[in-house]
Amino acid sequence: MNKKTKVVWITGASSGIGAELARQYSILGVKLILSSRRADILANIKSECSYPENIKILPFDLIDFKSASEIVNSAFKIFGTVDILINNAGVSQRSLIINTKFEVFRKLIEINYLGHVAISNAILPYFIGQGGGTYVIISSVMGKYSSPYRSGYAAAKHALHGFFDSLRMEHQKDNIFVTIVCPGFVNTPISKNSLTGDGSPLGKYDKANASGLPVEFLAKKTIQAINQKKWEVSFGGKERMGVYLKRVSNKLLHYIVKNNSVR
Ligand SMILES: NC(=O)c1ccc[n+]([C@@H]2O[C@H](COP(=O)([O-])OP(=O)(O)OC[C@H]3O[C@@H](n4cnc5c(N)ncnc54)[C@H](OP(=O)(O)O)[C@@H]3O)[C@@H](O)[C@H]2O)c1
Repeated sequence: MNKKTKVVWITGASSGIGAELARQYSILGVKLILSSRRADILANIKSECSYPENIKILPFDLIDFKSASEIVNSAFKIFGTVDILINNAGVSQRSLIINTKFEVFRKLIEINYLGHVAISNAILPYFIGQGGGTYVIISSVMGKYSSPYRSGYAAAKHALHGFFDSLRMEHQKDNIFVTIVCPGFVNTPISKNSLTGDGSPLGKYDKANASGLPVEFLAKKTIQAINQKKWEVSFGGKERMGVYLKRVSNKLLHYIVKNNSVR
């Protein structure tokens, strides 16, 4: 852990990757702010952590864009600073474009992209004012290439890269760092809440996620990448190769992903 790191704010901390980042950061003795919509589950995660006395919960809905400034203000009031904001909350998709209502695409963009932009934009003056800060974005390999059944999700993740690559360029001078993490399949309940074409959750676990990276491994590698101030990292199984293949042969990647049975 970087000695200067004092306060880490994690969104989507009630489940999966966010909850595991909270557990691992807590062992390191840092102060944590945990956010998501469900206050009761956040309280459970807090109680499982090594030093619950160093942890505060700040529940909010990412798509409540109008409250972003107020939420950031509340976050800063808790410990007087935020050193690292981990934009982790998200919802995936399991539907073909032809079967997907427009409202579902809107929701995927609102949660996975605009919600993070709202909070990140609101925190920027605070980061500049305190002499620096770190944004961590939990993107996906779907932020680097696309796949059937993930159109709106992949679009939102691609958009994160566009936004945060610009932010890094504009604010490197302000001692602001951006680490973008692109996981492949990770063993979390993400598929359960994934949106289907009519907006209802899939409601079941995917085999691909169940046999994906252990969430403990992903969280450990993410914390390492943040400490090393990496700009962008990807972790995963063979799906990670798509990130490199896209650079070499987009057409070959197209045929491999199109014909893959993993959905
Ligand atoms: N698991 C994977 O295979 C995988 C792969 C690549 C990337 N990722 C990315 O990793 C991140 C975490 O995913 P995960 O696998 O840990 O999924 P997860 O277990 O389903 O957790 C998702 C988190 O997002 C929060 N969330 C969802 N909608 C929200 C909203 N409107 N406002 C605030 N919080 C909201 C949920 O909390 P509440 O329900 O309490 O609000 C929950 O804490 C996501 O960005 C995902 O896209 C995951």
